[in-house]
Amino acid sequence: MINQELQKRSLPDLFLRADGTRVTDVPGWEAQRAYWRALLLSHEYGQLPPVVQPAVTVSVNPINFANKVVWETLRFTFSYGSKSHTVPAQLIYPRGAKGIPFFVMINFRPDIPDRYLPVEELIDNGFGIITFCYQDVTSDDGDFSNGLAGVFSEGERAEDSFGKITLWAYMAMRVMDYLETREEADLHCVAVAGHSRLGKTALLTAALDQRFAAAFSNDSGCSGAAISRGTCADGETTAEIFKRFPYWFCPRYESYVNDPTTLPFDQHALLSLIAPRIVGVGAADEDHWADNDSQYLCCVAASPVWDLYGKPGFLAPDRLPAIGDEFTDGNVGFHMRAGAHFFSRTDWLVYMRTMKKHFAK
Ligand code: GCU
Repeated sequence: MINQELQKRSLPDLFLRADGTRVTDVPGWEAQRAYWRALLLSHEYGQLPPVVQPAVTVSVNPINFANKVVWETLRFTFSYGSKSHTVPAQLIYPRGAKGIPFFVMINFRPDIPDRYLPVEELIDNGFGIITFCYQDVTSDDGDFSNGLAGVFSEGERAEDSFGKITLWAYMAMRVMDYLETREEADLHCVAVAGHSRLGKTALLTAALDQRFAAAFSNDSGCSGAAISRGTCADGETTAEIFKRFPYWFCPRYESYVNDPTTLPFDQHALLSLIAPRIVGVGAADEDHWADNDSQYLCCVAASPVWDLYGKPGFLAPDRLPAIGDEFTDGNVGFHMRAGAHFFSRTDWLVYMRTMKKHFAK
């Protein structure tokens, strides 16, 4: 049944090389991964800026959750040419932690806790957190003169210049650079998480940076975890997203958005770059705009890449998603809770369960 649904979308074959031959093994896939990565960057999200190592300062926050946690405020100062910009981030971990799993949470607000970030519950479950507010990286609008956009922009935007999603993902990678210096983190168990536009960002982060062991994309929808070809009724289309948020993407994306069948890839290529690591796609039953069927189909379509690595991909029933679904036994996970577009505690419980299941020591 699900394969028939998938066939209706006529997706590009992930294993088909540009020369017409097919990938059949892992070394072949590694080259193919580079091919999809290059296409996604040059046609949808835009190129990454050069890697600049920021100077990081640390100050301990007096609020410590009943003396249970250490909360450090970090300030990442990026200097490039004559320009510089500082991005604050918050690092929170159980007191005395060593080598524990971490969530890098890209959030809408800097608040601790935040309605999308139940800090104490994550800590009580043994996780560390490092989080930053996306608009501290660069504003969520078409202004490319502020924040890291200002630091790295030179003149007119080119067809493949970074969109804002790429810049938010870039910051998550620099946060990972920093975590590599901290003994509190187990570097084999660092996940990146985000909601909606920041769920798209979380997927791109893990797709581009293999140091992330897992990515959790909550309600990310169009240009995130949802297939773009054949959007369901009420689901956001690429034309709609580009009309309102062109600056999330590179300028070249515009030439495809009115007819996504012309795109050389679909979003299953983005998910496939995360193989053989963990990816969790979260959906909410009332969130029709994020197009849950298309998110589910994306998991199905990307799954064969995990098979190639000899790892279980998406283990789910042969049907479209239903409320209450939680499929996390494979390395591609999906859940659909009741309710609307939101990063809820229920979603976090699924992501924490997923991490515990796959990284049990
Ligand atoms: C809009 C947009 C979505 C996006 C969402 C969000 O609804 O159309 O693509 O995911 O904002 O980020 O909240």
